[in-house]
Amino acid sequence: MGVYYILQLFAIYLLGLNATKPANHNTVGDDEKYRPKYHFTPDSMWMNDPNGMVYYKGEYHLFYQYYPKANVWGPMHWGHAISKDMITWEHLPIALFPDAHGYIFSGSAVIDWQNTSGFGSIDNPPMVAIFTYHNPEKEKSGAIDFQTQGIAYSLDNGRTWEKYKQNPVISNPGFKDFRDPKVIWHDATKQWIMVLAVKDKTMFYSSKDLKTWDFESEYGLKGDKRLWECPDLFPLKVEGSNEIKWVLVVSMQSGAPNGGTGTSYFIGDFDGHRFVNSQPENKQYWLDAGTDNYAMVSWSDIPAQDGRKLMLGWMSNWQYAQQVPTYRWRSAMTLPREVTLVNIAEKEWKLKSEIVREFESYKENKTAISKNNIVDDHLLIHQKNPLVCELNVSFNRKPLQGEFTILISSPEKDTLKIGFDPVSNRYFIDRVKAGISDFNNAFPAKHFSPCLSLNNSLSMKIIMDKSSVELFADDGLTAMTDIFFPMADMNIIEIHAAGLSKILTNTVVYTLK
Ligand code: FRU
Repeated sequence: MGVYYILQLFAIYLLGLNATKPANHNTVGDDEKYRPKYHFTPDSMWMNDPNGMVYYKGEYHLFYQYYPKANVWGPMHWGHAISKDMITWEHLPIALFPDAHGYIFSGSAVIDWQNTSGFGSIDNPPMVAIFTYHNPEKEKSGAIDFQTQGIAYSLDNGRTWEKYKQNPVISNPGFKDFRDPKVIWHDATKQWIMVLAVKDKTMFYSSKDLKTWDFESEYGLKGDKRLWECPDLFPLKVEGSNEIKWVLVVSMQSGAPNGGTGTSYFIGDFDGHRFVNSQPENKQYWLDAGTDNYAMVSWSDIPAQDGRKLMLGWMSNWQYAQQVPTYRWRSAMTLPREVTLVNIAEKEWKLKSEIVREFESYKENKTAISKNNIVDDHLLIHQKNPLVCELNVSFNRKPLQGEFTILISSPEKDTLKIGFDPVSNRYFIDRVKAGISDFNNAFPAKHFSPCLSLNNSLSMKIIMDKSSVELFADDGLTAMTDIFFPMADMNIIEIHAAGLSKILTNTVVYTLK
């Protein structure tokens, strides 16, 4: 974020800690109405990227970029929470604080089962966090080597942390943007691999002990000028085969499908040294086409008998994250998702995502809505709280002339529109009139994602949680996550399309516990 950081630091300097002043629309407490019920939020103050996600002894750990003194970005700490199912979280004290080397930027955590680092023992393997140090004084002095990599370890299930005395473990070779280490164990070469985001590309390092790292190789796109952040690297078996492909995830600071920041990925092979893209022209895909899923990364050390690849992202966008109309807390995480890899064409693979199965037990009161209730191409669904529900809608696109739209609205005329446009063959989420949006010009917009299914029958799964919508379609090949801030409580869901009774095949609503 180079220039952003300088601007942000300057803004924080000017505002002092008054940065926590309520935004225009809010009084203290008022914004609690936007706090999601089953998405993770910090109890108070600023949060961005998920960090150090690791599973150990029955607990999913979520660390996160956290500034405990204001509701805007500032000196970064690692906040900490744990969960047994990735939905209900318990807040724990801050895990990592800034020190003489700098702020604690994004990174990952692993369980060092073989105690390669020597920080623990085989009987009590250390949890090791690998993160970026960002030195603000050095940055201010005009130096460019202000980001380095550091490590810390915990011998008590992530409750307390010891920083490694000889930090940093990787010093800066001369790049202003040199950060966000994701570390994995590469079993074939029996070594640790770190993938780092370095300006407009990724770099790979290897290590036997998590302390000494050797540069291996780099991967980037020729001529790309965007800033790359928060990488991830993992193998996945291609569904229905024994083939293994490697997924290189990279968050992009600009140029996401609907503007601003977003999480992308490449598919290829990785031999412990080098990532080689398998797709023609280094094709880049997006994990989510909505505007609000950034820095999405995966959990480490999910037990082999579980075998899932589980991911979660920051449900915001750097374009406006620091201006959204909440005061006490700023930003939530997406729901945790399981990703799987499918072969969709010759030499073409794509990730499918779905909400983790643990979420199923939070659903109740399944209601199938009868088509007999359709009046004048509208199906009205009165739902006491449509902002905390899951909606499943199936329809045929064949007789469809204009848009197929699900409207979720309040008596104050806040209206969120979710749907499918047969003319451009795209799904959409339209938040232009969904509530407060004047805090940033980029916010009020209609977002699109191409429909990838060739079937006549299409299905949308929509999960609402107070101020967010997560849309899944095309059997998980399409995902869109958007946030919004309604002025009044929404209480009506309405489905609309010309000739609706011929088109609609299934409508099911669940309330959430
Ligand atoms: C991504 C990011 C990371 C960095 C962190 C700082 O959102 O810019 O690259 O480590 O946020 O908070």
